[in-house]
Amino acid sequence: GGGLKLAAARTNRLIGTAVDDQKLSDPQYARALKADFNFVTCENCMKFDATEANQGSFSFGGGDALVAFAAQNNMTVKGHCLVWGQQLPGWIAGVGDLQKAMVDHINGVVTHYKGKVKYWDVLNEVIDDNPGSQDGMKGTVYQSRLGTGYVEAAFRAAHAADPDALLLANDYGVELMTDKSQRFYDMVSRLVKKGVPIHGVGFQSHFDGTEKLTDMATNMQRFADLGLFIMISELDVQYLKFPGSDQDKLKAQADFYKKVVSICMSQRACKAITTWGVRDSDSWLLTQIGPNEKPLLFDMKYTKKPAYSAVLDALNDQ
Ligand code: G3I
Repeated sequence: GGGLKLAAARTNRLIGTAVDDQKLSDPQYARALKADFNFVTCENCMKFDATEANQGSFSFGGGDALVAFAAQNNMTVKGHCLVWGQQLPGWIAGVGDLQKAMVDHINGVVTHYKGKVKYWDVLNEVIDDNPGSQDGMKGTVYQSRLGTGYVEAAFRAAHAADPDALLLANDYGVELMTDKSQRFYDMVSRLVKKGVPIHGVGFQSHFDGTEKLTDMATNMQRFADLGLFIMISELDVQYLKFPGSDQDKLKAQADFYKKVVSICMSQRACKAITTWGVRDSDSWLLTQIGPNEKPLLFDMKYTKKPAYSAVLDALNDQ
């Protein structure tokens, strides 16, 4: 078979994964990426702390390696991420002109990757988890020092640096019809109405398996109605919370993955699905939950799990 990517390409969709740039030199890891994915996002190497550890001096080693690998293998790249309240370099805390530092950072990174990185997560996790805060925005250093205007400035800076790049706001907890997704929608629709260059939204989709996905399609539709595309951008589904034996859990997890992918396939504006890592053992959730968590499509030996077949089926279904 042609793997997940052949199935996804039938409907012009991207099927992606988060990549650890330091593992690219491992032939087995590289082979796994090539077999199934046509889309890559660096898990950490394009973040602020990785690319501008010292103000004004950029380092692109990890990202360049991923971009070269992607070019050799006909993969599309999404850059992650330009503005986030985490993984910031230490110097940010003491910087005098934060707005200028943010714009210079965006300009430096996007210009370097102009023509090579097609999509950018301009914003990551800027929406507050709780209601009542200023404009529904999370209280990051950007928000508290610059106010909500930083959001528009960020998109404009990215667009100026590469007018062909497609720009996203990416967030977690925005997948279903909830108060948080309403705040996300409100921010995004404000930007669209103002003519700010935003082209898509990312639903991170870190699921614990207990979610009812019944209104995910409705939620997606309202973003599509704004003229935006949607990406499922950091998909993983926890396994441990499902009941029963290992086999039962793997089956329930597979069913859950299938539902998510089917929802994307039923929405024309949903153009990409990215899992947040390749193997269970690559997942950030192991450090959060413990070594028995198995949230992804492959086990540590690259064996395809039931979730893999479920995703493949869902991609082929339409
Ligand atoms: O590279 C260093 C290594 O040199 C050092 O020995 C080691 C000791 O702690 O740390 C390593 O860095 C870690 C890095 O991952 C690479 O493994 C950082 O401590 C750790 O904080 C970092 O975690 C990343 C996390 O973002 C940071 O917030 C995860 O890999 C990454 O999967 C996760 O990704 C985020 C998305 O960007 C945004 N959405 C949520 C998602 C999951 O948290």
